[in-house]
Amino acid sequence: MKIPPVKGTRDFYPPEMAVRNWIIDGWKRVSVRNGFEEFDGPIFEYLKMFQIKSGDEIVEQLFSLQDRGGRDLALRPEITPTLARMVNQQINSLPRPIKWFSVPRLFRAERPQKGRLREFFQWNIDIIGVNDVLADAEVIFTTVDYLREVGLTDKDIKVKMSSRKLLAAVLKKIGIPERDLDSLYILLDKKPKLAPETFRDMLNEQVPAAEMADRIEAFMELKSVPDVEHMFEDNDEIVEANNELAILHDCLDRMGVSDYCVFEPSIVRGLAYYTGVVFEVHDANDNLRAICGGGRYDNLLRDFGGPQIPATGMGMGDCVLEILLREKGLLDKRLLERRLDFFVACVPNITFDDEEGVVKSTSEDEVVRLTARLRKMGFCADFSYKFNNLGKQVKKAAIQNAEKCIIIGNEFKENQLVVKDMATGEQELVDIDEFLSRPKS
Ligand code: HAM
Repeated sequence: MKIPPVKGTRDFYPPEMAVRNWIIDGWKRVSVRNGFEEFDGPIFEYLKMFQIKSGDEIVEQLFSLQDRGGRDLALRPEITPTLARMVNQQINSLPRPIKWFSVPRLFRAERPQKGRLREFFQWNIDIIGVNDVLADAEVIFTTVDYLREVGLTDKDIKVKMSSRKLLAAVLKKIGIPERDLDSLYILLDKKPKLAPETFRDMLNEQVPAAEMADRIEAFMELKSVPDVEHMFEDNDEIVEANNELAILHDCLDRMGVSDYCVFEPSIVRGLAYYTGVVFEVHDANDNLRAICGGGRYDNLLRDFGGPQIPATGMGMGDCVLEILLREKGLLDKRLLERRLDFFVACVPNITFDDEEGVVKSTSEDEVVRLTARLRKMGFCADFSYKFNNLGKQVKKAAIQNAEKCIIIGNEFKENQLVVKDMATGEQELVDIDEFLSRPKS
C-alpha cells in the first residue's frame, strides 16, 4: 500500500518547491530592504508558552506531545511567543528598536480547507521597542511592499485596519464589562465566517441586552472614522483611538500605500494579545480567508515575564497568498521549470582499448571534465549518464531547459567544441579556450 501524506500537510515535489522558494525568497528580500534582520527559534516549545496569551482558539489547535522526561511540549502554531521569549532573554543587550523577521514552518490542527492547512509557512515581521504608530505603519508598508512587488494592485487586495483600543472603548461605552471583552473579541472576529443569524444568536448570548447587541452590530458596519465619532460623541478614549487611526492613515499616505488601506471596524483579530492597531489583508472580493494579519501587542513581553515593551508586527501564510497569485495569473510559469546554463553532450566516439579490454570513449571523459569546470566557474551545468546517442542527449538538454548545449566530439579539431543555442537552434564551432574565457553574462 502506498502511504499518502498526513491530512493537512503537503509534499513539495520540485515544481511546488520552486514556488515555495520563490515566495519565501521574496519575503526575505523585502524584509531586508525594509531594515529587518532574520531570526528563528525551535520548532517545538513548552506547551505553556502557547497557553499564556495566544487565546483559546490556538490552544485548541495545538499539536502537543510529551518528551521522555514527561515535559509537555507543542509544535509551534505561531512564532510571536518565541519572539517574546527570545527578546526577554537578552533584553538588556539587544539594541533597540528591534526589527526582526522570520519565516517559520508552523503547525495548527485546523480543519483543512481552502487556504488553511495543518502545516504551513508564515512570514513574520515585528518591531519591538517603538511606541509610535509610525512602527505600525512601517509593518503595513512592508507588507504592501511585498504584495505590490509580486504584482497585486490596490484593485486586487485591501488592507483592512482597525484598533483594539477603539473597539475596547466602544464596547465599554456600550456597557460591556471589561472582564467580558476578551471572549467578545473572539466572537466578533468570527463574524465574517458565520451566518448573520448565527452571529446574532451568539452575540445575544454573550451581551446582557439586545439593545447592546444592536449597537455592536451597527458599529461593525461603520465605514469611516468620522462615522464612529458621530455615533459616539464626547468619549475621550474613542477620540484618542480615532486620532491614532488618523495618524496611521497619514503615515501610510506619506509612504504612498494609503490606496491599499481602508478603515474596517469589523477587524478584531482572533489572537488575545493585541492591544492597539490591528489589520488584515484580504482579496478585494472577499472570496478567500485573510492573506495576513497583525497588529500592536504592547503587553506580550510583560506577560512573558519581561519588562513592558511595546511591539507590533504581522504574519502572512503561504497558502492563501499562493491561491490568490495563481488566480491572478501572477505565478510565473517559468518558475516551475528547471533552468541550466549549459548541457554538455558528446558525439559518441567509442575507442577500444586492447590491453585492458574495456570500451572507453575519450569524449565522455571530456564531457565530465568540462561540466565540472563550468560548475566550478559558477554555471548551472549538467550532462547525461548515457553518452551513446547525441540526439537523446540534445533532447535531454531541451527537457532540462538548457540555454546552450555544448557538443564535444573527436571529429572536431582538437580543442574545439560546438555551442548550440537551444532557443534558435544556431550552432557555432568555437575554440575551447576562447569559449571558457567568454564573460559570464
Ligand atoms: P494569525 O492571524 O493567527 O496571526 O495568522 C496570520 C496568517 O497566517 C493568516 O492570515 C494566514 O495567512 C496564516 N495562517 C494562519 N493559520 C493558517 C493555517 N492553518 N494554514 C495556512 N495559513 C495560516 C499570527 O499568527 C500572529 N502571530 C501574527 C503576528 C506576528 N502578529 C504580530 N506579529
